[in-house]
Amino acid sequence: MTILRSVVVGGGSALPSRCVSNATLAETVDTSDDWIVQRTGIRQRYLCGPGETTSVLGARAARAALDDAGLTPNDIDLVICATSTPDHTFPSTATQIQAALGIHQGFAFDLQAVCAGFVYAVATADKFLTSGSARRALVVGAETFSRILDWEDRTTCVLFGDGAGAIVLEAQDGQGTIADRGVLASSLRSDGRHRDKLYVDGGPGSTGTTGHLRMSGKEVFRFAVGSVTDVILDAFNATGTTADDLDWFVPHQANRRIIEASADKLGIARDKVVLTVDRHGNTSAASIPLALDVARKDGRIKHGDLVMIEAIGGGFTWGAALIRW
Ligand code: ACO
Repeated sequence: MTILRSVVVGGGSALPSRCVSNATLAETVDTSDDWIVQRTGIRQRYLCGPGETTSVLGARAARAALDDAGLTPNDIDLVICATSTPDHTFPSTATQIQAALGIHQGFAFDLQAVCAGFVYAVATADKFLTSGSARRALVVGAETFSRILDWEDRTTCVLFGDGAGAIVLEAQDGQGTIADRGVLASSLRSDGRHRDKLYVDGGPGSTGTTGHLRMSGKEVFRFAVGSVTDVILDAFNATGTTADDLDWFVPHQANRRIIEASADKLGIARDKVVLTVDRHGNTSAASIPLALDVARKDGRIKHGDLVMIEAIGGGFTWGAALIRW
C-alpha cells in the first residue's frame, strides 16, 4: 500500500550583507570575544541593514530553494513562513514572499512559534501535503531579530543574528516504511506557563509598540537541556529508530553548550551534530534551515540520510521532526 510522504526536493538560504564579528561588537557593547565564544560558541553573526527585511531575506532563500528543486513559482501551492519578526503586523510575511516570487495560486500564512517555528512549519506543511490538501510547499524560516534586541542589554544582544532558510516539500508516494524519503515523524509541544523566561515586552495588542526581547538565560538553558528530549524520543519511538540510526542531528542553533549537552544526553555522537551557531549566531526560526543548507551544500547531508531536526523557543514551544532526506 502506498502512502503520501512530504519529501524535501530543494533547499536554499540567505544572509544579510553585513557580517559582524565578536570583536567588532565589543567596540560598542561591553563584552569580549572570549566571553561570547566560551559561553555560547558564537564567533560572528549577520545583521540586516536598510532594506533588508524579513520578507526580503525570506524571498531570497525561497527563490534559491525553488531553483535548487528545479521548480518554478507555478509549482508551489502552499507557502508557510515561520517568523517572530514579520515586516508588518499584517499582512503576513508569507504572502509578501508569495508575491515577491510571483506565486499567484494556493495559499500562504505565517507561523509563530519563535525558535521552534521551523519545526512547527515542517510538521504543519506535512499535514497539508499528506492529506492531499496541497502538492508542493515552500517552508521558510526568516528572521530579523536584530530589530527586536535591546542593544544596551549585553546579556541578550550578543546572542542573535538575522537570516533566512527554506526548503521545498513535495507530496510523493511512499511505501509506509522508514526507508521512505520524506518526513517520517514529528512531535510538537508547548507550555505557556514559561512565558516570563523568554519573551518580547511589547506587541500590537498590548503596548502598541514592537518591544524588546527579554530572557532569563540560565532558566532557558536548564529547560532546553532538561526537557526538550521528550519530542526527540517521541520521533524515535514512532519510527522504531534510535540515536544510532541517525546520520545527522540538526538542532536549533542557540548555543553550542546547549546543543552538545542535548546530543550527549540523547547518545548522539558529536560528529553527527551539525553546528553553525559559530558563524550565524542564534537566528531563531531561520537557524535550522540555514544549518541544513550549509550541511547540504558541503556534502554532509545526502539523499537517503536520516536527519533529526529539533528546536525550543519562547512560550515555551518545542518540537522535533525525523526526515529521510
Ligand atoms: N559579555 C560579557 N559579560 C557578560 C555578558 C556579555 N555579553 N553577558 C553577561 N555577562 C556577565 C554577567 O553580567 C555576569 O557577570 P557577574 O558575574 O559579574 O554578575 C557574568 O557574565 C555571568 O553571567 P551569567 O548570566 O551567569 O552567564 P551564564 O554563564 O549563565 O551565560 C548565557 C549566559 C550564555 C545567556 C547562558 O545562560 C545561556 O547560554 N543561556 C541559554 C540561553 C540561550 O541560548 N538563549 C538563546 C535564546 S533562547 C532559544 O533560542 C531557545
